[in-house]
Amino acid sequence: AQANVSAFAMELMPRITRAQVMDVLSSQANLAGYRAVIDASAEFGRAFPMMMTAAGTVPAAKVFVMGAGVAGLQAIATARRLGAVVTATDVRPAAKEQVASLGAKFVAVEDEEFKQAETSAGYAKPMSAEYQAKQAALVAEHIKKQDIVITTALIPGRPAPRLVSAEMVDSLKPGSVLVDLAVERGGNIEGARPGEVVVTPGGVKIIGHLNVPGRLAASASSLYARNLFAFVETLVDKKEKTLAPNWEDELVKATLLTMDGAVVHPSFQPQPA
Ligand code: NAI
Repeated sequence: AQANVSAFAMELMPRITRAQVMDVLSSQANLAGYRAVIDASAEFGRAFPMMMTAAGTVPAAKVFVMGAGVAGLQAIATARRLGAVVTATDVRPAAKEQVASLGAKFVAVEDEEFKQAETSAGYAKPMSAEYQAKQAALVAEHIKKQDIVITTALIPGRPAPRLVSAEMVDSLKPGSVLVDLAVERGGNIEGARPGEVVVTPGGVKIIGHLNVPGRLAASASSLYARNLFAFVETLVDKKEKTLAPNWEDELVKATLLTMDGAVVHPSFQPQPA
């Protein structure tokens, strides 16, 4: 038998039912969404829940989550548990019901383009300039009333969409906090800097932590390990106790990056000159 040296990319795992247990993007994004709210609350100089005390009322924090995929939905759930008033936006119509089921209000431009914005794979499409302008106008009006903004918007294979302009950041009250979970992919927020907490002259903080799941290292490792174990199980012959990948398996084909020193994945072939 030939001894192959292969590398697999776990983030290329197809999002099909059989591979759900191996879905590293989901296991890590879920933790990042949770942590984004915790990080925001730590930087925020106020409480999240409404508190009625003898000394007066503390109003509930207003949290706006942009991008309601795996990370965004967990951010919504976490902010709700802390007692915030939560709104959320997305370009995929399927997100509307999911946002509502978590007790948050959905805010979006729901035109004809919005109805077509989800790909067959369940991801967002890049939106037209016209849609982006309408979205920006709606967001500009909504965002200035928010205390916390958490952005999670990504488009597969492209830079993250720019959703929050510098003017929108400036329209927030001093003490407001933004978290850009897309900062590693170019960022959703103008002025976010990878690995930094930026404080604007207007007293608004923009959190751009890198590797946010790593800020919950034990949880991230344990879920990642379970993802990896489930995949490796499909690569071994349990009776013979040997590695025996089925090269025709769709999970193997989708994730196999290199073999015996050559890049074999169709998406990573050298471009012809
Ligand atoms: P993602 O990380 O690619 O993007 C995050 C979110 O940003 C998405 O909801 C996307 O629609 C949104 N977005 C993109 N452009 C935007 C814009 N201009 N404005 C506002 N929002 C924008 O997506 P993620 O979290 O990986 O999930 C994508 C979908 O896949 C979801 O519907 C999720 O439920 C689904 N999914 C399905 C799984 C399965 O096993 N069937 C597993 C995991 C996720």
